[in-house]
Amino acid sequence: QENKSEVVVFSVPSYACQRRTTLENQNATLTDALSLLAENAELSGEDGRGVAFRRAAAVLKVLPSPVKSASQLAGLPCLGEHSLRVIKDILENGASSEVESTKESEQFKALKVLTGIFGVGAKTADRWIREGIHNLRQLRDSGHTLNRAQQAGLDHFDDIKQPVTKAEAAAIEEIVEKAVASVLPGVRVVLTGGFRRGKLTGHDVDFLITHPEEGREVGLMPKVVSWLEAQGFLLYQKTTRNSYLESKDGPGRPPSNIDRFERCLSIFKLTRMEKPAAEAPGDGAVNGVRADGQRESDELSRSEPAGAAADRRWRAVRVDLVVSPISQFAFALLGWTGSKLFERELRRWAGYEKAMSLSSHALYDNNQRKYLRASSEEDIFAHLGLEYIPPSERNA
Ligand code: GTP
Ligand code: MN
Ligand code: MN
Repeated sequence: QENKSEVVVFSVPSYACQRRTTLENQNATLTDALSLLAENAELSGEDGRGVAFRRAAAVLKVLPSPVKSASQLAGLPCLGEHSLRVIKDILENGASSEVESTKESEQFKALKVLTGIFGVGAKTADRWIREGIHNLRQLRDSGHTLNRAQQAGLDHFDDIKQPVTKAEAAAIEEIVEKAVASVLPGVRVVLTGGFRRGKLTGHDVDFLITHPEEGREVGLMPKVVSWLEAQGFLLYQKTTRNSYLESKDGPGRPPSNIDRFERCLSIFKLTRMEKPAAEAPGDGAVNGVRADGQRESDELSRSEPAGAAADRRWRAVRVDLVVSPISQFAFALLGWTGSKLFERELRRWAGYEKAMSLSSHALYDNNQRKYLRASSEEDIFAHLGLEYIPPSERNA
């Protein structure tokens, strides 16, 4: 007879692309802690450590019940010594001293604020911090010349740090649909990124654009951007040309995972959504607490006077547009749906387990020395010898 008091022992495959990771998470306290350490490592230029924490968090995300004791974790993959120490600390003491001290550290707080500016990466932020710049006011006062992206990022800092809602994503999708339809009939627009995985909010909105006839997508991006610009929808945009066919490692060579689609990183000017009636009165801060519950206390990380944003009839939203030829569409769709860890794990699986190279353009079989065709995401999973995982279960 089974012992009913026996602890549940979990078993999980080691690659995130072999697992179904929904948005439901029974171990959010643990995964939040590990994700914070991952973020801190990434912002400090320690990518290896960052990935290790991300992998550990991803394993905990798929466990069917809350972890009660470390003994349940024996045999689970990707849980290194460091991650296990953090987990044990939280299980035994309710919190991890390392996580708490990281959260409070001036270095981490400054890195978060500065890299929160669109166009500012970890390296730039670190350089500024070493010059004594820890917040937006000090950055402004420093007299540093910002590039166009950073200036736009600073100008729209408050808006961009607010999560984008599904309703806002849908409104932007309508605008993008209208833009492409006016420029070239028959174009297909697909919402990718976190929203395709079923997330309710995002840091931006991602779109993949293609045309059912190969070649018709060429030159599409500048036309779409011009239309959007003429209609006053763009606060900022930077388009990067597709150089896949021209580049040396184009057809005939294994694809690198650096993306070379025609893509546009932009900031949209979106007319504000009407708030539900119950939330509408005042539309702003009451005693320093906004309707979304966040305190408007940090003068130093705000880019305009309190309340100014609420008086505007529009808000800034980060939008990514990517154009792909139909022949590469399945790869692009898979590559731009995420999550970032899921993508990384797919490429690791392809390389280590199948001797294949996967990118957002193609899949190359190093043994057969040929590209493998795919017209759907299902085809790609099949080539890789993986069970198909739908977008809603790629939230690793
Ligand atoms: P939120 O925007 O916060 O909701 O998360 P997200 O999952 O949508 O993240 P993000 O918008 O940063 O990226 C969406 C997907 O695009 C992820 O799978 C990324 O891996 C992918 N992605 C982002 N930048 C690039 C890139 O330069 N090249 C390629 N191939 N993929 C990218
Ligand atoms: Mn996104
Ligand atoms: Mn994006």
